Amino acid sequence: MKDRRYYAACTLGLEQVLHDELVALGAGSVQTRRGGCEFFGDLAIGYAACLWLRSAVRVQEELFRGRVRHRDDLYGLTRSVDWSRSITTLQTLAVDASVRDSFANDTRFPALVVKDAICDQFREQKDKRPDVERERPDLLVKLVLHADQAILYRDLSGEPLHKRGYRAILHKSPLNEALAAGLLLATDWDRQEPLCDPMCGSATFLVEAAFLATDRAPGLARSFSFERFVDADLAAWRRLYDDAEARAVAGAARCPQLLGNDRHAGALSIAEIAIAAAGLKGKIRLQEGDVAAFAPAVAPKVVVVNPPYGERLDAKDEELIADWRALGNFLHAQCQGARAYVLSGNAELTRHLGLRADRKLPVHNGPIECRWIRYEVGQVSRSADPAS
Ligand SMILES: C[S@@+](CC[C@H](N)C(=O)[O-])C[C@H]1O[C@@H](n2cnc3c(N)ncnc32)[C@H](O)[C@@H]1O
Repeated sequence: MKDRRYYAACTLGLEQVLHDELVALGAGSVQTRRGGCEFFGDLAIGYAACLWLRSAVRVQEELFRGRVRHRDDLYGLTRSVDWSRSITTLQTLAVDASVRDSFANDTRFPALVVKDAICDQFREQKDKRPDVERERPDLLVKLVLHADQAILYRDLSGEPLHKRGYRAILHKSPLNEALAAGLLLATDWDRQEPLCDPMCGSATFLVEAAFLATDRAPGLARSFSFERFVDADLAAWRRLYDDAEARAVAGAARCPQLLGNDRHAGALSIAEIAIAAAGLKGKIRLQEGDVAAFAPAVAPKVVVVNPPYGERLDAKDEELIADWRALGNFLHAQCQGARAYVLSGNAELTRHLGLRADRKLPVHNGPIECRWIRYEVGQVSRSADPAS
């Protein structure tokens, strides 16, 4: 059977991490693009991508691509896809478009053309059409219109993949789970060394680290759109799911020492709820207090942390500066010989750590361009900190 073509989307900056995940999964001809990767494979590789990719936020299957110079081309191209393979008239539909340099100068018009073409096909064949549902459609169709090239995808994920199912309550500024997992994959953590997050908030890094170390598929506790498609191969899906479940059971005993700390009691109670929902009760040790006073029960070999940062500093940000200095002191005093990875969206604040960076990965956290910075604590002397 001919290979299918897929696209997985990720946070800007994590493309290489996603590429490596896809190769490890057995995807074919993986090509990085800005904000994602294209890949090929059978139907099961699309399902496996949804279940196993840690750094991806969406997986889409390409249904058709072709030249489109005006409305009728787009309508005709959409009609050439057999939509009854995806949904029935009792299911729901939504269309999203992204448009650049094309005949259409907004996204609404081409999205409407695609929706009409799909509904007309159903009406002609079945005398009925699926309803449109923006929030949780059974089928989300994505149109990418770039110059005179149109690509139609169906979204296999449904809810974005970072929604793993363990987080019901949101902390003030939690990391996106797929970003946290991708950042962990971009470290040299061997998945058994003690790992610590001294400003852990709702513990996203720690939960994702536990999943990674215990070989637990990030999508094990949720469902996906493709399960509701008419042409779903539920037997193939069952096999993948059962295998992932068996791997999670086998891996559960391999959870390393995972330690967290935060001064905000509310964040820690949200973290405890997420940890319990993720089935990790007792596997992650959390302490409440200022990082200045944090003494981890086990010396961490790897530290991952996402301290607070404002995009621009002003005088009233003394408190932020003090937090970064306290983090630098903690690393120096408690983590000698460890590798520390710090997500920073503000180079001015990073300076206050008083450590010399040895690698920086540019990565976006939402709209903010950040750096994932690596330090070898104690391997090089503390940098002269003009602020200290
Ligand atoms: C950006 S949030 C971290 C979010 C976290 N990665 C998550 O996914 O929920 C920064 C965290 O640092 C904590 N924090 C800030 N200054 C601190 C300090 N001096 N000591 C301990 N925790 C601190 C805040 O309470 C907040 O939870």
